[in-house]
Amino acid sequence: MTITVIGTGFVGVVTAGVFAELGHQVYGLDIDQKKIASLNQGDLPFFEPELKELVLAGLQTKRLQFTTDYQVAIPDSQVIFVCVGTPSADSGAVDLTYVESALLEVAKYLIPEAIVVVKSTVPPGSFDHFAKIMQEVTKVPVALASAPEFLREGSAVSETRHPSRVVIGTTDDRVFTILRNLHQPLGAPILQISPASAQMGKYAANAYLATRITFINQIADLCQHNGADIEEVIKSMGFDPRIGNHFWYPGLGYGGSCFPKDVKELAYFSRTVGYGDNWFNSMQEFNEGRITRILDDVLVKVGGVDGQKIAVLGLSFKPNTDDTREAPALKVIPYLLQKGVAQIQVYDPQVQLSRTPFANHSEIDQVNQSTNIAQACQDADGIILLIEWPEIVEFEYSQIRNKSKNQWLLDARNQLDPQALSDAGFQYLSIGRTWNKSHE
Ligand code: UGA
Repeated sequence: MTITVIGTGFVGVVTAGVFAELGHQVYGLDIDQKKIASLNQGDLPFFEPELKELVLAGLQTKRLQFTTDYQVAIPDSQVIFVCVGTPSADSGAVDLTYVESALLEVAKYLIPEAIVVVKSTVPPGSFDHFAKIMQEVTKVPVALASAPEFLREGSAVSETRHPSRVVIGTTDDRVFTILRNLHQPLGAPILQISPASAQMGKYAANAYLATRITFINQIADLCQHNGADIEEVIKSMGFDPRIGNHFWYPGLGYGGSCFPKDVKELAYFSRTVGYGDNWFNSMQEFNEGRITRILDDVLVKVGGVDGQKIAVLGLSFKPNTDDTREAPALKVIPYLLQKGVAQIQVYDPQVQLSRTPFANHSEIDQVNQSTNIAQACQDADGIILLIEWPEIVEFEYSQIRNKSKNQWLLDARNQLDPQALSDAGFQYLSIGRTWNKSHE
């Protein structure tokens, strides 16, 4: 089968690579010429484990090629995946400009029986509008289906090869059969539901996962006040199979390009249909204010940071990606500068400070990138472990302990051993562990 995948962000490139690996002929299409030229050389515009190898293999077998040309790719394709971005405005309203312009281009060259599959996250009920605008451009009957994406950055390739489920939103049995056959080799359960349910299911899945994180963060905050330890609380609850032990580890709140955006959009949809006072609003507010609340608390415990030198470890929003969208560092660094720190040394295994939105900050001169953890922590008064990259978690912090200083260490992902850090002479701080209280 010949397939076009529109949009070469991480969802689009991974989807294109995996379908090429399954033996299909795949066009990866994007309007960004520079990006397409690099991709055709096997150079990725972002870091994602296993993806470079996947793309190179596709290019080598000539089953994968990247193009900017709708006129070449679409008339050749039986299935077209739309994987372009759907940013949201501050209000939470979704900007569908990129999806609409991709669909209009597709409509110009659509062949009879071709299926257009929207993977981009779009509001439930968008399909009537999409079909209408496309049908104004083409006489070919438009067959639209929804197939939301559930992969995580950092493990996108393995999760696309082995998805937990494939959800196909269509009421057309012909469309379902073709898409089921296409996805069958992935070995996942495949379900047919309506397009609106598929779109709502995507929002609901992300909002539920964000809810688990928000919930455990709120419990962690309570632990700070009552002598309980969040890690023990999690252990005690996880044995209940209805709850489980996964995906609710506390920290500074959820980030990335998906949870903050999808929760904000659900809050917005709820308001627009009359549910002004809704859980999504509260969750969004709690998550947005979290970093400042935790850091305010830390400053009280360490006696302020004025004039201090601080190491910030981890600039991406989570490990195994160079994506900095809604990364905690983007709030933590300006906060520290505002509180008067003299110098910040940052380290990240993949992210260059110069490539973050933070590069334009007026006080950027006070922030330096280090090439390794030891260098970042050298002579630091305080160390903040922001992201649980394996090398950041496995580092021997006792080695760089400077005995002439009262060094503090904030472990914002509860990854380190409080006893070992304390024995090494650090003032160890973390999220919702009783250690914070009893050993200070
Ligand atoms: C998320 C979903 O997990 C995917 O299923 C979904 O397909 C994707 O959004 C999307 O909509 O495209 P992603 O944003 O890549 O994936 O990252 P996650 O691993 O889910 O992490 C999101 C945030 O939650 C990160 O800031 C992470 O640090 C935080 N988190 C995660 C926690 O604070 N605690 C946890 O236990 C897990």
